[in-house]
Amino acid sequence: MGLIVIIVIANSKGGVGKSTIAVHLAAWLHEQGYRVILADCDAQQSSSEWAKEAVPAVRSVSLPDPDAILDRLPLLDQEADFVIADGPGSNTETSRALLLRADLALVPCKASMLEVRALTQATNVLRQAQDIRGGVPRAMIALTMIGKTYRLTQDMKDAATALGLTVATSGLTQRQVYADAPGQGAVVWKLGSRGKDAAEEVDALFAELLPGKRTMYVNGRQTRKAVA
Ligand SMILES: Nc1ncnc2c1ncn2[C@@H]1O[C@H](COP(=O)(O)OP(=O)(O)OP(=O)(O)O)[C@@H](O)[C@H]1O
Ligand SMILES: [Mg+2]
Repeated sequence: MGLIVIIVIANSKGGVGKSTIAVHLAAWLHEQGYRVILADCDAQQSSSEWAKEAVPAVRSVSLPDPDAILDRLPLLDQEADFVIADGPGSNTETSRALLLRADLALVPCKASMLEVRALTQATNVLRQAQDIRGGVPRAMIALTMIGKTYRLTQDMKDAATALGLTVATSGLTQRQVYADAPGQGAVVWKLGSRGKDAAEEVDALFAELLPGKRTMYVNGRQTRKAVA
């Protein structure tokens, strides 16, 4: 596996938690000491507006159309350790351009039976990109908005396996604090005790997505260490 620099948050379905994950991942990597650029590829620009307040040190770049993505996204990786690209909810051509340029795709998927059935459709463009690029971008599904009683059913695993996709062990639960975070101009771990549980699951998801990228503090010294 090559160096991972460009990470796209991709699902051509709307409202599955892409922007929420994009802003948190950009902020998380920034706090690990990496130089991060957030590429906002959604015309609504909601993630870049949120990120400007939540993590002003992270540069936001607007790449509003497929041509801008295909031309400019690869150049950004020379200016940062990680580029986090937030995709749109409906524009297939924009998603396609992102998946043709990304090193890694995180695919948020609402944890419900309806979404399991829609998984093939939702990951169609991903599969096409992987066909063209010999398996790149590697992809991982992140379950989002998991209800209290939801169990990761065999159906979801089977649907993912059939598509050659892995489902992250850590998912994001349905919590009001995620919905409140953009209005607060913050990420969940800046929202005190209210955000504590959310902060833990976000951290676990990103550590699973990017093994070895979480900064560990050992005897007061900062070091990078693979996370199990
Ligand atoms: N785990 C969660 N629990 C509760 N609410 C959530 C969660 N994740 C996201 N939300 C809320 O759900 C809505 C959709 O999330 P978000 O904007 O991140 O999705 P999106 O995939 O970027 O949507 P779009 O396709 O419109 O860009 C937002 O109001 C967000 O605050
Ligand atoms: Mg969005």
